[in-house]
Amino acid sequence: MAETKKRYQLGIIGWPLGYSLSPAMHNAALKAAGLSGEYREIPVKPEALEGWLEREAPKLDGFNVTMPHKEAVCAWLKQHGRVRNSRDQRMGAVNAVRVEQGRLVGCNTDGDGFLRLLDRTSDSSRLFDERSEKKVVLLGAGGAARAIAFSLAASGFGEIRIWNRHRERAQALANDLAPYAKGNAACHSSVLEAVDAAALKGVDLLVQTTPAGMKGKEPLPCDIPFDLLEKLDRAAKPSKKPVLCDIVYDPKETPFLLRAKEHGLTFVGGLGMLIEQAALSFEFWFGDVVPKEKLRRISLVMGHAIGDSI
Ligand SMILES: NC(=O)c1ccc[n+]([C@@H]2O[C@H](COP(=O)([O-])OP(=O)(O)OC[C@H]3O[C@@H](n4cnc5c(N)ncnc54)[C@H](OP(=O)(O)O)[C@@H]3O)[C@@H](O)[C@H]2O)c1
Repeated sequence: MAETKKRYQLGIIGWPLGYSLSPAMHNAALKAAGLSGEYREIPVKPEALEGWLEREAPKLDGFNVTMPHKEAVCAWLKQHGRVRNSRDQRMGAVNAVRVEQGRLVGCNTDGDGFLRLLDRTSDSSRLFDERSEKKVVLLGAGGAARAIAFSLAASGFGEIRIWNRHRERAQALANDLAPYAKGNAACHSSVLEAVDAAALKGVDLLVQTTPAGMKGKEPLPCDIPFDLLEKLDRAAKPSKKPVLCDIVYDPKETPFLLRAKEHGLTFVGGLGMLIEQAALSFEFWFGDVVPKEKLRRISLVMGHAIGDSI
């Protein structure tokens, strides 16, 4: 008798779930990998999350987690399942879960997706050379900033400054980060309004991680000294020119990136991070099933699948 091919059941939970690009990316990836199954949007209200994790999640093979559930799912997994490693546990947010014989195991692919984007982008890959001497400034200290900061620290970036609207949150992240920073990495925090010329001197990477500038939202209220960044850029050797990044991906060119462009600065948009974190989720679920050469092409497949959606 012919063996029935397994149909994988995957999805993304969040509330509210607007139009998510994840189903298009993952359904194309399943097809390209020769797997049968489907990835769908699963709206889960915050008050229904616990019940859903207990009863519905084990029926799936894996799922992504988006706002506002990333922290709550991580906390639940620490008690009732498992978080992949101590770094992700400490980070405190989970965006991908796989189901292993009914038990849920979570991880965070946002930060590593961000690093992979930098590494695969010709304008930013040089940041990895002598990274222990590199200075990074993060604007914002929310879930995405935490993921990025932990990945940067674990991979050896030397100095990470966190600037946030509420200082306590920036300080909490700097404190949590310190044990994960390699070598003599320094972690500092401050309020967003204090981002001035002195703070940005010698910056190698400036990352905008707040939702400001997203479709329908105002740009960052504080005044980033783009004039100064332009001066620094002009005076710097090619290997020391600052790279600016906005992880917001809708619109593709955010107000922050448009200012960077106006000032002739090197910039990287957030859509690539969305694709790389999705590809890493796919690897988390199917790393043992799909041949490595197919996995290597998955981010390309996902990029084509969303094409001009934004
Ligand atoms: N490209 C990707 O793959 C990717 C992945 C994940 C997230 N994202 C995007 O990243 C953004 C942040 O997500 P998140 O999960 O980190 O959100 P979050 O946990 O809610 O954190 C939001 C952060 O932004 C700050 N903030 C919010 N509004 C602000 C404003 N008007 N002015 C100044 N600071 C403000 C908050 O400061 P306070 O602490 O002071 O409130 C906080 O630090 C979202 O737009 C999300 O879509 C993109």
